[in-house]
Amino acid sequence: MAEAAGVCWPAVLFIAAVFLLTRYVMKCWAPRQPRLPAGPRCWPLVGSLPGFGWKAGLPPHLLLTAMGQAYGSVSSLYLGSRLLVVLNGFQGVRDALQRNADVFSDRPTIPLITKITQRKGIVFAPYGLIWKEQRRFSLSTLRHFGFGKLDLEPKIQEELQLVKSQLSKAVGTAFSPFHVINNAVSNIICSMCLGKRFDYDDEEFRTILHLIARGMKLASNSPAMLINVFPVLQYLPFGAFKEVSQTVKDVTSFLKNIIAEHRRTMDPENPRDFVDFYLNEIDCEITKKQSTSFNEDYLFYIIGDLFVAGTDTTSNTLLWAILLMASYPEIQEQVHREIRDVIGESRSPSFKDRHRMPFTEATIMEIQRMTTVVPLAIPHMASETVDFKGYSIPKGSIVIANLWSVHRDPSMWEQPDEFNPSRFLDADGNIIKNEAFMPFGIGKRICMGEQMAKMELFIIFSSLLQSFFFKLPEAIDAPNMTGQFGLTLSPHPFKIIPVRR
Ligand code: HEM
Repeated sequence: MAEAAGVCWPAVLFIAAVFLLTRYVMKCWAPRQPRLPAGPRCWPLVGSLPGFGWKAGLPPHLLLTAMGQAYGSVSSLYLGSRLLVVLNGFQGVRDALQRNADVFSDRPTIPLITKITQRKGIVFAPYGLIWKEQRRFSLSTLRHFGFGKLDLEPKIQEELQLVKSQLSKAVGTAFSPFHVINNAVSNIICSMCLGKRFDYDDEEFRTILHLIARGMKLASNSPAMLINVFPVLQYLPFGAFKEVSQTVKDVTSFLKNIIAEHRRTMDPENPRDFVDFYLNEIDCEITKKQSTSFNEDYLFYIIGDLFVAGTDTTSNTLLWAILLMASYPEIQEQVHREIRDVIGESRSPSFKDRHRMPFTEATIMEIQRMTTVVPLAIPHMASETVDFKGYSIPKGSIVIANLWSVHRDPSMWEQPDEFNPSRFLDADGNIIKNEAFMPFGIGKRICMGEQMAKMELFIIFSSLLQSFFFKLPEAIDAPNMTGQFGLTLSPHPFKIIPVRR
C-alpha cells in the first residue's frame, strides 16, 4: 500500500530514525557549553552513567556527594539527554533554594511521577498560583491539628499505647520495630486526614498501607522507572508497567470512596478532619462564586501527598532513632535522665515539654542530621535560564539539592561523621541553631509538614525512651548504618531488645 501511494515508508522511517539518532548523538557528544557546570561526559542513550564507573554500586546520595568532591559544589550530568544540575554542600544549596528561590522552586516533569500525580496536589505541583493557594490552605489546616481545637496530641498518645503494648509483649526478645512504628505513624495521618484510626488488622487499613508501599516501590525501585526514559512504555499491558496503571486505579477508587463518604456525613459547622475542612472550603468558594482551584479532584491528590510525604519520612526517622539509641547506650541514658527529671514516670510527654528538654531535642536533631531521611530532597527545576555562581543554568534543568552532603559539609560541622548530639548545645546546655541543619529542606518548597513531624518525633521518641531501654541483640554484627535508598533513606532491617524501665 505504501509503495502504491508512491512513498516507501520503511525508507522514510529509517531516514527519520537515523536523523533523530544523529541529532541526539551530536547533542551528547558536542563539547559541553562553556558555562555549564562541570561534570562527567555524556554518552548517547545512557547519558553520563559510564562516567561513574569508578563509583558504581554507591547509593545515589553518596554518588552525587562524590561528584561534588570531583567537580565542585555545582556540577552537572546527563540522565539520558536530560540535564541534571547537582548542588552539594551548604552554600550551593542555600544560595539556590533560598537566595534564588524564585528561579529554583519549580518541579520538573518526570513521566512516571506525572502519570501518578498529574502534577496536582502539592509535592509535584508546578511552582505557581495554584500550588501557592493549595499549600497555604493545607498548611493553615494542618496547624489546626497541631495547636488548635483538633489537637493531634491525644491521637498520637492513643497510637503510642498500642506501640507500647506490642513492645511490652516483646520485652527481653529480639524484635523488629518496623511494622509497629509504620502502623502507628500511618494511623496518625489517617486520624488527621480521614478523622479515624484503624485497627492494625483492619482490611481498609491494610489496603491503604499496601497501596502506598506498592506506589512507592513502583516509583523508586522497579522496571516501571524505565517510563522516565521511554514514556511510551507506560502503555504496555504487562509487568510493572501495567501495575502502575492498576495502582493508580486502585488508589483513585479507594480515596474517592472516602471523599464521597465524607460528603454524605459531614456537618459544615463541625469539621472532623482535613477532608471536611477542604470540602467546606470548596463549598465556601462556590458560594462566593469565585473562580477557584479547590475541587474534589484536587483534594484527592492532596490527601495522597499527605499520606506519602508524611508516613515513610516520619517512621524511618523513628526507626533510625531506635537503632541509634541502641547503638549509643550512654546517649540513650542521658536522654532518659532528662525525661525522668522533667516529665517523671507517670505522665505522658507533651510537645510543650520540649523547651525544658534541650538534650532530647538536640538528640533528635542529631538523629535527623546523621540520617537525612530525604537525602536528595524532591527534585527542583530551574524555571528560567539563570546565571548562578558563575555558571549558566538552562531553563528546564532538573536541580538536585543534596541535603545529605549539607549535613556532612566539613565547613559547617566539626567531625561530621560522628554522632554527637552536644554539637547542638551551647556551654549552658541551650539549643544552638546551625544554618546547615535542614532535614526538611529550605526555601519556598520547604516541607509543609515540618511542625507536625517535629511534634510526632518528639512525643513518640520521648515516650518510648520513658518506658523502655533499647539494646542490640548480642552476637550480631554491628548494624549497617548506610541505609537503603528509596524515595526516603530507611535503615536496613534490624532487631532490638526492648527492656522495661
Ligand atoms: C521527619 C519527617 C519529615 C521529613 C524529614 C520531611 C522532609 C521533607 C523534605 C526534605 C521535603 C522536600 C523539600 C524540597 O523539595 O526542597 C519535603 C516536602 C514536603 N513534605 Fe515533608 N518531611 C517530613 C514529614 C512530613 C509530614 C508529616 C508531612 C505532612 C503531613 C509532610 C509533607 C510534605 C509536603 C506536602 C512536601 C512538599 C512541599 C512542596 O513541594 O511545596 N512532610 N519534606
